[in-house]
Amino acid sequence: MKGVILAGGTGSRLYPATKVTNKHLICVYDRPMLYFPLRTLIDAGVTDILITSGGEHQGAITSLLGSGKSFEIDGKKKEDGGRVIDVNITYRIQDRAGGIAEALGLAKDFVGREKFMVILGDNIFEDNVNGAVQEFLKSNTSACIFLKEVTDAQRFGVAELKNEKVIGIEEKPTQPKSNLAVTGLYLYSPDVFDVVKTLKPSGRGELEITDVNNHYVKQGTMIYSVVKGNWTDAGTPESLYKAAGLVREKEGKR
Ligand code: DAU
Repeated sequence: MKGVILAGGTGSRLYPATKVTNKHLICVYDRPMLYFPLRTLIDAGVTDILITSGGEHQGAITSLLGSGKSFEIDGKKKEDGGRVIDVNITYRIQDRAGGIAEALGLAKDFVGREKFMVILGDNIFEDNVNGAVQEFLKSNTSACIFLKEVTDAQRFGVAELKNEKVIGIEEKPTQPKSNLAVTGLYLYSPDVFDVVKTLKPSGRGELEITDVNNHYVKQGTMIYSVVKGNWTDAGTPESLYKAAGLVREKEGKR
């Protein structure tokens, strides 16, 4: 199975650090943010990985990760007890921050004809999602989202459930219909690229991932999994601070 990390966008909520670097290169406690989505993919058995990002700081991302050979999963050298694995990283440029779904569209040729996994570059998961991934691969459903109970649902895509089925997702609703955030981890079949082609930009001028997901909800081919462990994005000063605390708490001081 192949995996895609979406690491573009303007990072405006972490300005001014993002004036000089890509948001996903900022450290979350002891290592660059990108290490976390990479670990989530690797722990699900995915080692063939595309990273999309804006052109401005692409050189720094390549300097950090290179081809993916001898990737230090936990940010520690082998001689210091770190886990090291060879992954195969491909890069693609998103010319402007046209939205998460636009970035996803860039993965078409890389993905080919198999089901695949997508993760947002600022999402930090504690769980190993391999079980849900294997279930999705065996199923005849086209898409899977990962939901997490939160206290600030207005910040996210929010899922409405009925009889244990997702019946709709709203992007950043002022009055959320549930406290279940749609996290930035998605499993799709390759027909998602046809869905992306039909999208129109939202009010904020972006192709929205929530529109992609609602397509599958309407089609009745969307399943979901509930995230048990900690999850956070790290894209605002507050969530970055929280993410750093979670990493430090889980993995110990360095
Ligand atoms: O974190 C989960 C949330 O992520 C979901 O609940 C929302 O449904 C989803 O829209 C998204 O919301 P955000 O407001 O957090 O998205 P943001 O614009 O911060 O982008 C998140 C990541 O997506 C970012 O770290 C990199 C990638 N991205 C984003 C844009 C706009 C791209 O690669 N290209 C882009 O053009």
